[in-house]
Amino acid sequence: MAELTRRDMLKGAAVAGAAAAVAGLAGCAAGAEKASSASAAASADAAASASAEAAASAAPAAAAADAVAEFKMVLGAEAGGSNFGIYRESADLHGDASETDDTLANLNSAMGGETGAHTKYAAFAEAAKAAGLDRIAALFNATSKAEDLHRHEEERVAQLLDPAAKLPEKPQVSPTETDGNLIAGARGEIYETAEMYPIYIATAIKERDAESDAAKKDALDQAVLAFTRAKLAEAYHAKWYMDAYTTIDTPTDEKYWLCTTCGFIHKGAKPGACPICGLTEYEEF
Ligand SMILES: [Fe+2]
Ligand SMILES: [Fe+2]
Repeated sequence: MAELTRRDMLKGAAVAGAAAAVAGLAGCAAGAEKASSASAAASADAAASASAEAAASAAPAAAAADAVAEFKMVLGAEAGGSNFGIYRESADLHGDASETDDTLANLNSAMGGETGAHTKYAAFAEAAKAAGLDRIAALFNATSKAEDLHRHEEERVAQLLDPAAKLPEKPQVSPTETDGNLIAGARGEIYETAEMYPIYIATAIKERDAESDAAKKDALDQAVLAFTRAKLAEAYHAKWYMDAYTTIDTPTDEKYWLCTTCGFIHKGAKPGACPICGLTEYEEF
């Protein structure tokens, strides 16, 4: 039997940490503020003492109170690291226009990006359907709904920092041919997962760690989790857009499954626990 390496164990813990963290976030969204503040307290506590090995041995069903501490390890903030880092692509490719040191501004910017993507993909779905590409229309519809989840979660967190924060108007969209729409979608997803969200995550961690007000610190913590969850989901969106592009002339009738908690998408048989949030609620497309 192959020996389980330390890196394997850390990877397992990273997934468990992400699962518990998002479970905590979902609880918070439902109004379970008590669980949320317990997470924040556990975070401060564990930051000082938890080693990577201790986190690695945590059960997948770790209590939400441990979630943030484990998630910090996922983000590479604790010694030991993991297979998940805040990767950032060279800024030369896209410029630094989106970079700010202000998480509220970043939440508003992300709400704009997600609203644009949500609207654009719905239009792309219509165009694909009109072209007889039903499975690609299903993928665009699933992804459009994923971005809707992201923009509403970001609005919820933004309102913790500024009660007046609200989603922007939906833009006008002009779809082109479906192959081009898939490439445009994949490019946007890769930008978000490799550059935009990594900047926002790093900024939110920095602000959170420097914040002394408990409520604001908790809100910034929720921003870190919302950005991270979106960053991970966008990578799957890019994957399925490129898969659809490469098989545009040889489609199958496989289903897409959207995790209605975090926006993760899977193609094929109905998946078990979501690899991002650990939950099992899916919508079929
Ligand atoms: Fe996406
Ligand atoms: Fe999920």
